[in-house]
Amino acid sequence: MVAAMVVAQRQRERLRQQQAVLVARAHEEERAWVAGELHDDVLQRIALVRAELESLWGDRSAPDAADTAAPLSLDARLQGVNTELVDLAVAVRAIATRMHPTVVDQVGLLPALQSLKGEVERGSGLAVTLEIRGGEPTPPLETARAAYRIVQEALRNVIRHAQATAATVTVELNARHVHLVIQDNGRGFEASLLKSQGLGLASLRERAIMVGGRAEVKSRPGAGTTIDVVLPV
Ligand SMILES: Nc1ncnc2c1ncn2[C@@H]1O[C@H](COP(=O)(O)OP(=O)(O)OP(=O)(O)O)[C@@H](O)[C@H]1O
Ligand SMILES: [Mg+2]
Repeated sequence: MVAAMVVAQRQRERLRQQQAVLVARAHEEERAWVAGELHDDVLQRIALVRAELESLWGDRSAPDAADTAAPLSLDARLQGVNTELVDLAVAVRAIATRMHPTVVDQVGLLPALQSLKGEVERGSGLAVTLEIRGGEPTPPLETARAAYRIVQEALRNVIRHAQATAATVTVELNARHVHLVIQDNGRGFEASLLKSQGLGLASLRERAIMVGGRAEVKSRPGAGTTIDVVLPV
């Protein structure tokens, strides 16, 4: 009896360690992505804009240079610099949005999900229905964050893999739990055979387990995908 409890305790401990490793790895990958994006995209583009500005500055203080068959007018080049800065702002905003952990902290779970729905619809053309049930507006912060990230990853997968035309996100909030169902009408996959290189579904499950809940992925080829998550509050 005692031996069985010790074994169960060790198993739980091992599971917790494995989870911690997975979560740490997901964080590491996220940081690597941000560093890569900042270095390879944002910094390169800033360097290009600076080089262009420096050359414009040089041309301005050396009037002769304007005559030496410059291929583009000053106006066109300034416009180019401006366009590049506008694009750059969009790229940086996308990184900041992805990094920001506190959209949920600031506005609460339901408004954050409303805004996510809008972003997904604008960005992908997928029709997202957000259905809210129950009257408990504010789950604890950790639960709300987990719920938001779970819906975010589930919808990201719908966009990337499902070839779906529509997705429904149902959120039921009551005094005991947050119940999330994310369902799409896409091509589905063999969930029971899944041996994925991807981290998305694994970290989705981890997030649920970390706050004491569970996540279930139900899918069959041709029958869409449903992700069912219960997080206790
Ligand atoms: N909604 C969905 N519709 C169809 N297939 C899906 C869906 N969600 C997941 N899958 C399948 O399950 C696999 C695993 O998903 P997972 O999120 O774990 O990894 P990923 O999306 O491939 O990579 P990552 O999330 O790490 O960027 C996907 O590669 C895809 O084949
Ligand atoms: Mg994924």
